[in-house]
Amino acid sequence: MPIIISLSHQKGGVGKTTLTLNLYDYYVRNGLKCAIVDADVQGSIREAVAVLGDQDDWSNMDIIDMPEGGKWERLEDYTEYNIILIDTPPYLSQQLPSIFAVSDFVLIPCKSSPLDALAINQTVDLVKDSMEENPNLQSGIVMNMVYHSTDFNEKVENIVAEHGLPIFKTKIANRVAYSKSLFISRSVLGEKDKKAREEIANLGTELLNILND
Ligand SMILES: Nc1ncnc2c1ncn2[C@@H]1O[C@H](COP(=O)(O)OP(=O)(O)O)[C@@H](O)[C@H]1O
Ligand SMILES: [Mg+2]
Repeated sequence: MPIIISLSHQKGGVGKTTLTLNLYDYYVRNGLKCAIVDADVQGSIREAVAVLGDQDDWSNMDIIDMPEGGKWERLEDYTEYNIILIDTPPYLSQQLPSIFAVSDFVLIPCKSSPLDALAINQTVDLVKDSMEENPNLQSGIVMNMVYHSTDFNEKVENIVAEHGLPIFKTKIANRVAYSKSLFISRSVLGEKDKKAREEIANLGTELLNILND
């Protein structure tokens, strides 16, 4: 059965789609068979593939359609994949409980700003409800678009930590490479920015280590 990783946060603009694409690319480059499900009706990933699909990096991506009728358990039949990443919408979609029910991990990207830190409440509550139904479900928060000023980041992290979910050791900094990379390749792994490449590699390994524990 594939490992199913959902990226979720009820707010838009926190990095769900960006991290979905970067993790996908990281795992593919490490020889894992991966697919993405774009569960966002605005469909940023499907749109990007449609627009940029003639570029090499974008043309050969494995994208699975959302299962019809909300039958998310059907993803378990895709046994040819090691990992399926689900990019979820920027609102509390009614699909989320069934998405979390089939997930092994819910990765919650949190933008490093007080308002965004406060906004994760409902996503975290939903994940905690799903954990009661699905005891295999794990979850963690990854700080994204982190600024250099450390005391500020610490304050934001303290707000986030109150939810009791683990926070990833890996932090993703605010870097142009993450926006720019989408035009060139689908992730920062094809970019010159070595620090961005290291961050994604660290996030990818940290996540797999938790799942393999
Ligand atoms: N670490 C980062 N550094 C700089 N820009 C980022 C970073 N992560 C995401 N972005 C940018 O922020 C915007 C929102 O990211 P996106 O992945 O679309 O969020 P979501 O899917 O949660 O709505 C995009 O323009 C993206 O390029
Ligand atoms: Mg998105």
